[in-house]
Amino acid sequence: MLENIEKLNKEITVVSALIKDKDSLEDFRIKYLSRKGLLNDLFEDFKNVDKTQKGAVGKALNELKILAQKTYDEKQAEIEKLTVSESSKEDYTLPGRKFNLGTKHLITQALEDISGIFQRIGFKVVDGQEIEDEYHNFDALNTPDYHPSRDMQDTFYLKNEGKDKRYLLRTHTSPAQVHIMKTQKPPVRVIIPGKCYRNEAISARSLSMFHQVEGLYVDKNVTFRELKGTLDFFVKEFFGKDLKTRLRPSFFPFTEPSAEMDVECYLCNSKGCRICKYTGWLEILGCGMVDPNVFKHVGYDPEEYSGFAFGMGIERTLMIRHSVPDIRMFYENDIRFLKQF
Ligand code: DAH
Repeated sequence: MLENIEKLNKEITVVSALIKDKDSLEDFRIKYLSRKGLLNDLFEDFKNVDKTQKGAVGKALNELKILAQKTYDEKQAEIEKLTVSESSKEDYTLPGRKFNLGTKHLITQALEDISGIFQRIGFKVVDGQEIEDEYHNFDALNTPDYHPSRDMQDTFYLKNEGKDKRYLLRTHTSPAQVHIMKTQKPPVRVIIPGKCYRNEAISARSLSMFHQVEGLYVDKNVTFRELKGTLDFFVKEFFGKDLKTRLRPSFFPFTEPSAEMDVECYLCNSKGCRICKYTGWLEILGCGMVDPNVFKHVGYDPEEYSGFAFGMGIERTLMIRHSVPDIRMFYENDIRFLKQF
């Protein structure tokens, strides 16, 4: 009997290492601890043990029972702990996992905002094309051969030139005006948002790709007054305030007269700050009355029609509006920057 007890003792120690889950734990219980288990058998046999041996056998038997029970309890606790941590994956009381929703890029938002403002007063949003030829980008816009912007230093020309055309990446959105007027009779009232390219050294203030929004309105009797009224309305809507504006005389080959529009610096309330270079004004766009020479290129009669046009750089305007110190930040796609807008 003592030998049997000893054998089982060793067996339990070995078997306990194999208990890994609820099933093996239950097998263990049935085999050793249940009513029909091996330990109970031994207790049954105990009755037949010789009186002289009862003391020693009883002690060994009790120790065996304690070992079996202890093994069972410890393994049960271990398995319990494991299943709890596993099921915590489905613990609905835990705080949910956050996932980030994407947003529109700041530039896209601005293009849509600006287009929306003009749409509300009857402008139609149309697409231009990023690959243009010299005729549309320069000649038809009254830009002479000797103009510095036509230089290779400033413009990206494409390698596979056409037979009688020189293709290039548009340097402004203005050539879209020509395409539209060539295909449509007045009244024309359009907004053209899009990308432009210039062969610039990349710096905190300039990139070789940027965005512009172009506007064009042609009809009978369109006046400079309407140009100013339209742009004032835009400024009020876009900056959200009744800001003062002013037009300064300027020069663009495709408009006559030409002007640049400034808005009062709302960052310092026109008192003068670093952003407005202590002038109290911020320059936001170029504009003017469409030059009669442009009308001639597209087949409009300058005696019958007049019109205004304007163009604004989006990155520059946004740098002002949000105090962005470096234009490259728009394109680094650092979400710490992007998610602020
Ligand atoms: N295209 C000009 C530029 O890139 C901006 C501009 C000025 C557009 C006057 C216009 C305009 O339509 O009338 O600097």
